[in-house]
Amino acid sequence: MSTVKHFLQFKDLTVDEFGYLFERAAEIKRYFKNYQLYHPLVDRTLAMIFEKQSTRTRLSFEAGMHQLGGSAIYLNTRDTQLGRGEPVEDAAKVISRMVDIVMIRTFDQEIIERFAAHSRVPVINGLTNEYHPCQILADIFTFIEHRGSIKGKTVAWIGDSNNVCNTWLQAAEVLDFNVHVSTPPGYEVEAERAGLYDDTHYEHFADPMDACRGADLVTTDVWTSMGFEAENEERLRDFQDWQVDADMMSVAAPDAVFMHCLPAHRGEEVTAEVIDGRQSVVWDEAENRLHVQKALMEYLLLGRS
Ligand code: CP
Ligand code: NVA
Repeated sequence: MSTVKHFLQFKDLTVDEFGYLFERAAEIKRYFKNYQLYHPLVDRTLAMIFEKQSTRTRLSFEAGMHQLGGSAIYLNTRDTQLGRGEPVEDAAKVISRMVDIVMIRTFDQEIIERFAAHSRVPVINGLTNEYHPCQILADIFTFIEHRGSIKGKTVAWIGDSNNVCNTWLQAAEVLDFNVHVSTPPGYEVEAERAGLYDDTHYEHFADPMDACRGADLVTTDVWTSMGFEAENEERLRDFQDWQVDADMMSVAAPDAVFMHCLPAHRGEEVTAEVIDGRQSVVWDEAENRLHVQKALMEYLLLGRS
């Protein structure tokens, strides 16, 4: 419909744009830490549409928009006509005439693609079944803060090949690093669903210990994502050997960091010893959602400052 810039999956932006966003996020974070007013988005409104639950995504977008001088409106399926079958295309046309930017958390990626195709304003993916690009934006910013450039580094992904995993794989192609993936049999990466160009940036390992060997960053996520609750019991059995523990961290690089997008289940995908241990950067990772998304909204609305 138009040339509006959206962030629906990680590869929607270029390596150059990510470089800019990481620099901007660092600057915007400094303003925040110094209690320095920064209001580039005065009078701008963000609509946040949630079809799934959230703590971090809602809070970081809502607080972030407020801190940039704008305002945010929370909508969910239950309380809007979306829950009563109003076509996504119609909702997109109406909502995008009333606000300046939209964030959506929903089920199929196709829903957000259809919304964006009929939106006059930028649309940001706040998690779909396939992708979680804002999470990986925060994760890589966090890695850069702790360890410098991620280019050429190795990330070990242990567990389910879910939305967060798919986004790591796309990010590896855009920013040129490697992902070692270990999933239980039957839960392997589907390259097409992950939206990958080829298999040059990731490698599958049957044994999670082998995936962790020498990795600069070890990361995992829940065994059962939102929308897949019916598979929970089966997944609890299938994923038993894919728990990130001290043994796995001990074969990673000595200065490896541990990340988890949260919420976490201690005793399932990660031990308390690891997530609460010295290599874990999960609290910085969660906080950085705020800073990177402020940089992202500023960029999508105003371009480079
Ligand atoms: N990591 C993340 O997106 O958390 P929420 O589900 O709480 O938004
Ligand atoms: N993979 C998880 C991430 C939650 C932030 C889910 O989709 O439920």
